[in-house]
Amino acid sequence: MNTLPEHVAIIMDGNGRWAEERGLDRIEGHRAGAQSLRGVIEECGRLGIPYLTVFAFSTENWGRPREEVQALMTLMAEFSRSEADELRAQDVRVVPIGDLDSLSEMAREGIAALARFTEQGQGLTLLLAVNYGGRSDLAQAARTIAQRALAGEIDPDNVNDHTLQMHLYSHPYPDPDLIIRTGGEWRLSNFYLYQAAYSEFFSSDAYWPDFGPDDLRLALDAFEKRQRRFGGRPRPATEGG
Ligand code: FPP
Repeated sequence: MNTLPEHVAIIMDGNGRWAEERGLDRIEGHRAGAQSLRGVIEECGRLGIPYLTVFAFSTENWGRPREEVQALMTLMAEFSRSEADELRAQDVRVVPIGDLDSLSEMAREGIAALARFTEQGQGLTLLLAVNYGGRSDLAQAARTIAQRALAGEIDPDNVNDHTLQMHLYSHPYPDPDLIIRTGGEWRLSNFYLYQAAYSEFFSSDAYWPDFGPDDLRLALDAFEKRQRRFGGRPRPATEGG
């Protein structure tokens, strides 16, 4: 069936519930979530998974209380600074995706500096989805295609799904093979709408701060057993491979 996924994407959910169950402030859950992220990045690198996307801040997260949004910005800036050396030592390359312009200056500059600092990484590519939304990704791609058509660079009659794909934030990286959502939910929540067309979905009951390498391996084991057909028919066993 399947081997290791080439691209794993994670919707890191359950930080708030993790904190509330412990009588802690929600932001402590996000802080613990940043620690989980460390472990999962390291495990993906160790397993030789080439691409990992983590959904760190969605376009809808602006609707949270101001203090929580502010704390998430601070956390992203701190993470970018505190993890830089370790990520470079692990040969990780960090690539931010999303509309970074609206982030706080501290978060935007911190993430940009981390991307520059790790740009030579040859191991895991970590796509950090910040201020990312699947719908706004499609909208910005459509906007760029329209502008390029007006400039005469693209023939509107030739616009197809490949043209769209080439203008998404995630270009030129492959679509995720496996999308994991923690916290027991089964929703895509405006994540990778285009890119998820053929992704396998795995819901883990673990809250993100509790999600560790063992939980990741459970998801990878489940992925290995799935039969992917991409709209076609399963291949007979005699064809092998
Ligand atoms: C969802 O949990 C999680 C988020 C909105 C933020 C994810 C952020 C982190 C894991 C912080 C670290 C990230 C970086 C890049 C430093 P929730 O608050 O919606 O949880 P709930 O569903 O239990 O309320």
